[in-house]
Amino acid sequence: MGEHDITLTVNGTDERLTVESRTLLIHALRDELGYTGPKVGCETSACGACTVHVDGDAVKSCALLAVQADGAEITTVEGLEGGPEDALHPIQESFHAEHGLQCGYCTPGMVMTTAQLLADDSAPTRDEIRAGLKGNRCRCTGYQNVVDAVETAASRAEEDR
Ligand code: FES
Ligand code: FES
Repeated sequence: MGEHDITLTVNGTDERLTVESRTLLIHALRDELGYTGPKVGCETSACGACTVHVDGDAVKSCALLAVQADGAEITTVEGLEGGPEDALHPIQESFHAEHGLQCGYCTPGMVMTTAQLLADDSAPTRDEIRAGLKGNRCRCTGYQNVVDAVETAASRAEEDR
């Protein structure tokens, strides 16, 4: 099995690591670098729990080999900026306020997808929110509250503008 030296910038920190050819980005982030915010759900690109931002785009990190991300800027849920240090991001606050999480396993992926969704469209309709989150599954099936949370996050961002 081949090994590769790669560099990733994760949440603003330059990281150097050696990965096997087969190592998925999610495993490099969690197992090699200790960024445990992104979760492993299915490893088949179905659930969205592993979603991170790669060079600004929301990506399922089980769908990418770590070597493919060599040189990329990665943001995990731990590095989402938007509030005072150590405070919850406004999207996280909205998920909390609207009971948009139950066990919380899907939440990091939901939050990262929501961040991209709201960056692309600051005032999505409920149908657009549902369409935007269609790649993120919640085993606790709390989708109604998730949509409420995204709506709340959008309106709070609008108030702050
Ligand atoms: S773990 Fe990546 S989509 Fe499910
Ligand atoms: S809150 Fe449990 S999987 Fe979504």
